[in-house]
Amino acid sequence: MKYPTTRMRRLRKSFQIRKILQETRLNPEDLIYPLYIKEELEEGQKEHIDTMPGQYRYSLSDAVSEAKRLEKLGLSSVLLFGLPVKKDETGSSAYDREGIIQKAIRRLKEETELVVITDVCLCQYTSHGHCGIVEDDEILNDKTLNYLSKIALSHAEAGADIVAPSDMMDGRVEAIRKTLDENGFQDTLIMSYAAKYASSFYAPFRDAVCSAPSFGDRKTHQMNPANTDEALREVELDIKEGADIVMVKPALPYLDVIREVKNEFKIPTAAYQVSGEYSMLMAGIEAGYLTEESIYESLTSIKRAGADLVISHFTPKLLEEGTEFKC
Ligand code: PBG
Ligand code: ZN
Repeated sequence: MKYPTTRMRRLRKSFQIRKILQETRLNPEDLIYPLYIKEELEEGQKEHIDTMPGQYRYSLSDAVSEAKRLEKLGLSSVLLFGLPVKKDETGSSAYDREGIIQKAIRRLKEETELVVITDVCLCQYTSHGHCGIVEDDEILNDKTLNYLSKIALSHAEAGADIVAPSDMMDGRVEAIRKTLDENGFQDTLIMSYAAKYASSFYAPFRDAVCSAPSFGDRKTHQMNPANTDEALREVELDIKEGADIVMVKPALPYLDVIREVKNEFKIPTAAYQVSGEYSMLMAGIEAGYLTEESIYESLTSIKRAGADLVISHFTPKLLEEGTEFKC
C-alpha cells in the first residue's frame, strides 16, 4: 500500500499520537550520574568546574548529600571519580582503604540504596597523569594489571556494586575478575570501558579531575576513532574475560559502534556521554545557538542506537525536569 492510501504523516498528526507511537524512551533508571569527589574539600565547599558549566567537584559530605537528593528524584546509580590529595608514581591513593573513593563508597552504601559504580584507573592518582605504571616514558601493560586489580579489590571491599575499569590495558578484565573472585567478591560486577576511543571530547573531564598526562597522550591504549572492527574485537575480548556490562565511549560521535555492539553481542551495553559532549551542548544552549531540546534529542538518540544505560552529566537536570522527550 502506498500514497494516497498510506500517509505517514497520519502517524505524526498530534503530540498525543506521536507520544503513543514513540519507539524509544529514556527512563530515570537508564541514567548514571558521574560524581567528582575531591578529598581536600571540607563540608559545605564545592568547586564549580569551569569547563563544564553547572558541574561541581564535591567534598565527601556534599557528594553524599547530592546523591541523596538525586535518589529522591529517582536516581538509581552513580559513577564515582576521586581527586586525591596525594599523587605518586604508582597512584597509591587509588587503592588506599582510607582513600577518598573507598570512604565515599562506604558512606553511599550506608546512607542510600544507590547502585555504586566506581571508575577504576590510575590517571587521577599518578604524578604523571597516565592510566598505568610508567617506566622509561612507556606505559607498561602487565605491571599495571596488578595495580588495577588492587584498586578494584579495594572498591569491592568498601562495598562497590560495580567496578568500571577505564584504563584500556589488555587483560585487565580477566585480572580484576580473578582478584575479585579469589577474595570472595564473585558478586561484584564489572562494567568495562570496552570500546574507549582516544577522544578529544575528554578535554573538559581532564580539567575537572586534573588528570591530563604530563607528557605524551593516551593513543597507545585508547582506540583510534576511525575504527569499528577493532571496537568489536575489544568488546568480544572483554566479554570473554568476564565483563558483565560493556561500554562504548564517547557516545554521540560513536552511535554506529553502540548499535553494532548491541546487535553483535546482546549484552548489557552502556554509553558514556562524555564531558565534551556535555560542554558542547551547554555552550550551544548558553550562546543561544541551540535549545535545551538538543539535550533530550541526543540522549534519546544514544538509547535508540542501542544503549541500555547512559552515563550523563545531564542526569540531575533530567531527574528534576523529567526524562520525557518532547516529541
Ligand atoms: C580516565 C577516564 C576518562 C574519562 C573517564 N575516565 C578520561 C581519559 O581517558 O582521559 C572521560 C570522562 C569524560 O570525558 O566525561 N581513564
Ligand atoms: Zn585513566
